[in-house]
Parts: sequence; structure tokens; C-alpha cells
Amino acid sequence: MNAPSSRLSGFHKQSVADRVARVAELTGLNKADCELLAGTGHLDLDLANRLVENVVGTFNIPLGVATNMRIDGRDYLIPMATEESSVIAAVCNAGRRCYDNGGFTTSMSGTQMIAQVQLMEVPDPEHARIRILERREEIREICDGCDPVLVKLGGGFRDLEVRVIDSRSGPMVITHIIVDTRDAMGANAVNTMAEKLAPHIEKWTGGRHHARILSNYADRRLARARCEWRPEDIGGADVRDRIMLVSHFAEADPYRAATHNKGIMNGVSAAVLATGNDTRAVEAGAHAYACRNGRYTSLTRWEVTREGNLAGVLEMPMAVGLVGGATKAHPMAQVALKMLGVKSAEELARVFVAVGLAQNFAAVLALATEGLKGHMKLHAQNIAMMAGAKGDEIDAVARRLVELGKVRADLAETELAALRAER
Ligand code: MEV
Repeated sequence: MNAPSSRLSGFHKQSVADRVARVAELTGLNKADCELLAGTGHLDLDLANRLVENVVGTFNIPLGVATNMRIDGRDYLIPMATEESSVIAAVCNAGRRCYDNGGFTTSMSGTQMIAQVQLMEVPDPEHARIRILERREEIREICDGCDPVLVKLGGGFRDLEVRVIDSRSGPMVITHIIVDTRDAMGANAVNTMAEKLAPHIEKWTGGRHHARILSNYADRRLARARCEWRPEDIGGADVRDRIMLVSHFAEADPYRAATHNKGIMNGVSAAVLATGNDTRAVEAGAHAYACRNGRYTSLTRWEVTREGNLAGVLEMPMAVGLVGGATKAHPMAQVALKMLGVKSAEELARVFVAVGLAQNFAAVLALATEGLKGHMKLHAQNIAMMAGAKGDEIDAVARRLVELGKVRADLAETELAALRAER
């Protein structure tokens, strides 16, 4: 079959059913495929169709609950949406090992977001910079005027920064408006303010404005978590010291740091997604922050305390909200938030950063000790299921794959057939 043309005129205007029929015809989807597409689970098709464009179905991934998590003296059941095995188990494991020692302590720098206005063709950029800074109170009025509800809730304009940067298109004057967005992630609020402000900046400076958009490098919205694990809870002082070596590797080497931080985001993104928040915004902020000193490094730091405990810290931008977007619209996000029982976006961010630290602890512990055997075991179970194993066959086939040291789909099929023949 030749690849179908992707020029589907009027596709976006069609009903979901008509889109499915058209795609099925073009790509050879059969009746069973179309039935799968029609089963949208808890996400109503009309809602899905309003959330994004060209909808043909929904995509389910498992939702699990991380247990054993004690954060700031309170226990949380943390919903996590992920397709990756061992991510949720890792958080439970990390939480269990520090629970009796008090769990996680968190804090936050604030809930401020930044929006940028790009200004070009300014003959005197340094002079223009100061002229914009002089308008601070006027800028406050323009920004706060865009969102009286936010102001009433205690948020609104907080600060102004103006930078002159060099670029391949010459100097640019970049205005940052810094806005406390409280319980909203804030993208819509700050984007609206930047739009409104841009023509005024043009007028004051004689320049020409271009992009007006929030920055995902939310370094005024830093969430911080710390936690101590006692040597006896993690397999002894020797394990602790080996964890230090693994973490120093990630601090020093960007190749390792990328994987180390990916592990942190395994946990953070799963929890962020479960609540309907924007995983890409948080990921962009995390990686930008990991580069803040000019070289990409690990987001966590590990130390040994005077008492000999393993102490971990994680600090990262955490632009998440409780209101607006999919958080409010997605029924499962609402269930997830109910389960969490958080009262503010700040509390939500603090839970997420604790999850990130827990996830990283579990990863460095595994790397410092048995490697990723635990991970492999869960992966083997997935492969066994993909090969058609059911019920207790799943564990049996997975065990054989792990014993063989080869977790492969073809071997899973062979092992499953052998098991069934034996029974
Ligand atoms: C796997 O998804 C994540 C890890 O590779 C993270 C790490 O290496 O730190 C286990």
C-alpha cells in the first residue's frame, strides 16, 4: 500500500466519526482498530474534541498511586500517570526508606511567572532599557488591568526586568514582566499582559515589538525538596558512599546528567500529567535550570550529613496550577487532585518536587547497588504480557527472561509456549 496523502482537505471540520472513517480508509485500519478508537474511556469524546484538534480518539495510559510519601509532616497519596514500569514502585520504595526519618521537607520561592516582550530596531537600546524601567508603575497598571480577578486573589504584577541582548539580528531589548499567578499556571494571564503591554513599549522607545510570550524558564517559581536517608534504611554506609559516587558522576558529566534528570522527570512528569498540568512546560524549565551556570548538570545534589545520613536536595522550576486548562476540564485530573487533597498550586508544586527527589533517590540507589535489575523485572513482565501471557503466566515468563538475562519479545513467546506445553 502506498503511503496515503496527508493533504486532507476539510479534515478539521469533519465529525470525529467521519474523521475515523476517512483515516481508516486511507491507512487500512480494520473494524477492531476503529472500535478501539471509539472506546474513549473516561474522557468524553466531545470534550477531547474541544481540548485538541483533529481528534480521532483518546489514548489511555496507566494511573497508579505512589504510597509511603510523607511531605512536610503530611502523608499524601500521589497519582502518577505513566507508561513506564518501575517508576511508581521507585517512588514508593524511596518514600518507605525515609518515612520513619520524617520524609520530605519542601519549600518554594514563590509563584511568579515571567513573560517576555521582544523589541527590535531600537537605535539606542541601553537608553531605551532605562526608559522602560522608568515606567514601572504604568506597566503595573497595564498588567494588573488585564486581570482584576487575579489581583483580587492576591496576585498580579510584581517586578520588571529589561535586558539588552545581542543576536544575529542585532541588539534586542527584552522586557520581562514578572507576575504572581497564584493558583494558575499562569501562561494565559502573562501572555495577555505581554500582548497588552507591547504597543506601549513601542511608543515609549520608538522600537518595533515582535514576540510576546511567557518564558518556561520559570526561575521565580522554584520548588525545593530535601530529605535524609539513614544508612540503616538504605543498606548501610557503603551503599550511601556508592550513591555519592553515582551522583558525582551526574554532576560532572552532561551525558550522565541527562539520564539522571530524565529519571527525575519520570516521576515529576507522571504526577504533573495525572493532574492535567503541562508536562512540557515543567520539562523545559527543568532542563533550562540544569544549565543555569553555563554547563548542563544534575538537578539534584547529594551529601553526607554530620550524622552520616545521605542527604538529597532537588531544586527546579515548577510551573503548575490548580485552575484552568486540562486541570479543570479533564475529569481524571479532577479525581487526581481530589486524591491529593492539595489546597494551592504551591502545595501541588511541593508535592511534585518531592516526587522528583524520591525518584532520583531510587535511581541512584539502584545504580549504586544491583543496577537496574528491579526495573528489568518489571520490564520483563510487560514483555511477557505483550507476548500474550495471562494471569500467573506473566510472572513465570518474566522470571525465566530475567534468569536468561535477555528480556526480548521473541524469547518471551518461546518461553510462554514452553510453559504452556509443560502445564
Ligand atoms: C530510566 O527511565 C531512568 C534511569 O535511567 C534514571 C537514571 O539513570 O538515573 C534509571
